[in-house]
Amino acid sequence: MSEAQELKKIRSLIDKVLTRREKTRRASAGTTVGVGWPVYDINEVDGALQALLELRISQGPRVKEFEQRFASYVGKKYAVAVNSGSSANLVALTALMQAGKLKKGDEVIVPATTFATVASPVLQLGLVPVYVDVEKDTWNLDPLGVAKAIRKKTKIIMAVHTFGNPAKMREIMAIARRHKALVLEDCCEAHGARIGKKVVGSFGDMATLSFFVAHNITTGEGGMIFTDDKVLYDILTSVREFGRVTVPMERFGYKDKYLGNYDARYLFTRLGYNVRMTDIAAALGLAQLKKLDKLNAKRISIVKQYQKGLAPYATFLILPQVRPGTFHSFYGYPFVIKKDAPFMRQELVDFLESRGIETRPFFGGNLPDQPAFRHEPKRVAGVLPVAKFLREQSIFIGCHPELSQKQVAHVLAAFADFFKSRAR
Ligand SMILES: Cc1ncc(COP(=O)(O)O)c(C=O)c1O
Repeated sequence: MSEAQELKKIRSLIDKVLTRREKTRRASAGTTVGVGWPVYDINEVDGALQALLELRISQGPRVKEFEQRFASYVGKKYAVAVNSGSSANLVALTALMQAGKLKKGDEVIVPATTFATVASPVLQLGLVPVYVDVEKDTWNLDPLGVAKAIRKKTKIIMAVHTFGNPAKMREIMAIARRHKALVLEDCCEAHGARIGKKVVGSFGDMATLSFFVAHNITTGEGGMIFTDDKVLYDILTSVREFGRVTVPMERFGYKDKYLGNYDARYLFTRLGYNVRMTDIAAALGLAQLKKLDKLNAKRISIVKQYQKGLAPYATFLILPQVRPGTFHSFYGYPFVIKKDAPFMRQELVDFLESRGIETRPFFGGNLPDQPAFRHEPKRVAGVLPVAKFLREQSIFIGCHPELSQKQVAHVLAAFADFFKSRAR
């Protein structure tokens, strides 16, 4: 048997095992509903296996291909893959500092309600977060709040597309340009979300993505940074791998009074990290990217059923809204329990969890109140009523593409039972 035939046989055997496991998993999951689920098949496994068989287990050609394909999907010139969305934010801000576009003490506008590693890299780099409240309807950075909070020291706005709901980028970009500030779009929860035809990540000066396991597509752990700026791109590639020289011209033309023409692989010209993505992860990413739009469409079909099924409870719940002209990619299905509802959020959480339906709070809630951020430098723009309201009253449940009709029906039945018992 030739090697190609052997590999074909292995592929078909793995396919069989995966399909069998999938069936068992579905059967044992029954009606339990997780907040996220990795959805992959033989294509991802085969890609990873090929990387292993070729001994390509660190950063290699698959990472490059994944970067090029994703850059073209987003509509940016350059992409740099890293090992997480958190690293993507850290490396993006580090590159901006090394490029001289930001300096210690500069202010960075962040939404008050978001994930921890939007704000922690800001602080780790000696920058100062300015927490701006989110909007009541979109739960995203409020452009009016941004316009009020921005001042001379504010050099960058980190716009997060929360839960896949595109932030108001045209308004945010206009404010940034007026004040000569930069914009970093955090798209970690928003793979494939769009405003009109433009994919999020294509509006700002830089953008980041996460491929953590619960996200719309995944590489297990992983992240990516996007930019159109070649200078930033060159810094990003160096910072992600130890700060060594990664630009061929720099390598060949480098002359140093101590090092002479030292081997460029060990020539460190900046302070960097090691946050590379492996080819094994990139192989997963390449197969996942091909499915992104389809997987998102499946999410939307589940969300539509939730929206319709939960509409009768609008007296008690605020359901997520999709702004006209946008594509909301629904990383999760978030909703708010109204303050005057005749039950506490915790009662609904306990009830759903008792039915096997996982819930999560709205990420970090009001971030400046979190223990790690409480005593760190900050500027808080106002009293952040919406962020505090969301922390107290909101949760999200899963709407991932792996959910079956039976599971969706189970979710809706659980809500119906809850409201029957509590909301007389
Ligand atoms: C808005 C946002 N930024 C950054 C991250 C960090 O991504 P990762 O978990 O890949 O480090 C997350 C995590 O989900 C996130 O939601």
